[in-house]
Amino acid sequence: MKIAVAGTGYVGLVSGVCLAAKGHDVVCVDVDETKVDKINRGEPPIYEVGLAELLEQTLGTRLRASTDLKAAVIESDLSLIAVGTPFDGSAIDVSFIRQVAREIGVALRERSDYHMVVVKSTVVPGTTDDVVLPILERESNKKAGVHFGVGMNPEFLREGDAISDFMNPDRIVVGGNDDKARDMLASVYAPFEGVEIVRTNPKTAEMIKYAANSLLATLISFSNEIGNLCAGIGDIDAMDVMRGVHLDKRFSPILADGSRIFPSSNTYLEAGCGFGGSCFPKDVKALIAHGQRHGQTMSLLDAVIAVNAAQPQKMLEMLDGHIANRKGVHIAVLGLAFKPGTDDMRESPSIPVIRALAAEGAVIHAYDPIAADEARHTFADIDINYADSMAAAVADAEAVLLMTRWDEFEALPEIVHTLEPSPVVIDGRRMLDKDDVPRYEGIGL
Ligand code: UGA
Repeated sequence: MKIAVAGTGYVGLVSGVCLAAKGHDVVCVDVDETKVDKINRGEPPIYEVGLAELLEQTLGTRLRASTDLKAAVIESDLSLIAVGTPFDGSAIDVSFIRQVAREIGVALRERSDYHMVVVKSTVVPGTTDDVVLPILERESNKKAGVHFGVGMNPEFLREGDAISDFMNPDRIVVGGNDDKARDMLASVYAPFEGVEIVRTNPKTAEMIKYAANSLLATLISFSNEIGNLCAGIGDIDAMDVMRGVHLDKRFSPILADGSRIFPSSNTYLEAGCGFGGSCFPKDVKALIAHGQRHGQTMSLLDAVIAVNAAQPQKMLEMLDGHIANRKGVHIAVLGLAFKPGTDDMRESPSIPVIRALAAEGAVIHAYDPIAADEARHTFADIDINYADSMAAAVADAEAVLLMTRWDEFEALPEIVHTLEPSPVVIDGRRMLDKDDVPRYEGIGL
């Protein structure tokens, strides 16, 4: 199928390149000429594992980039809208979606046969039907369901695993207003054999995306609240508590041979210093705001956000017991990105922690395997010593705050054992064995 993808951010580019790799003819479109030129030179403008290789494999044969959306739509059977939907505090901003829909609508005037327009961006329920569809009809002077189809097809891509998530989907949600639209959208995924497809209307498809992210965020805040209570009561380790929970066979089914399946969702059921990134915080807040507009108070999700907002502070509360006055004290912060495998700093729990330490006058030594450059932008106004290694960051530290679950931090105990006096280690991800470090504190302990 000939596919035009509007937007070459992480969703648009990953989708475009993967669909090309699966045999479709794809044009990735962006208003940013620099990005388009980069893609056409085979240089991905973002980092994702495997993206450069797939781009190289498809570029010039099944994939190209362009700034001309109108031409791309006229030449294509299907358009995917994958532009950003930033949250402004009260609603998601759909101005990029509107703009792209207008341009696609204008292009549709020049198409004689049926064309399918699909929203892939995360948008609140109702956006495809109530915003995109009317714009397309107005600009094209044609009728949805007759001359063109409209659909919604959310993405479920984790940053850092986006290519593998796209190429090996666990489910595909096909939202459309009629069978013709749904069939055409489903046919895009025909090369993905054996994958469960949810066929539904666009509003439901939009809601599935928010429900999925909200549930995962809820699991994290639930675990954090339980962890905080364990720590508050004393003599309870939330790690043991959650292991006891995970071993319920409804969370870890027992197979006929007695072995167990531990679903990876259980990793969201562990206490830590909070979730971040460009999706969970934004999507949960957007759903809360959307609920309010529909007269529905989202009390549970309100609490999910409140627990998460307070969670990074727990790191400092644990530090209070060891070093209450942090002025001039050397403190190492290990991990700056919101999760391992990315340099993304957006909504990272390290941000409030570092800002608080800076305000208290601490001397901050920060280390992250790949996010230091991003962090320099985030903390442009703060004096931070960026270390080249974990060992360098902790060398003079009286305390070490472990904020991101990078594998290499597993070697921290070895380094700590060489230091005299031994720094207190505050483990925000519960990734170390508490007995491996002389002075250990952990979330939920
Ligand atoms: C998330 C969802 O996992 C994807 O399914 C979804 O498509 C994506 O948002 C999106 O809306 O585009 P992502 O934000 O990349 O993906 O990251 P996750 O790996 O899910 O991590 C989100 C937060 O959960 C992080 O702060 C991380 O520290 C935390 N997390 C992640 C855990 O606490 N435990 C885990 O096992 C994994």
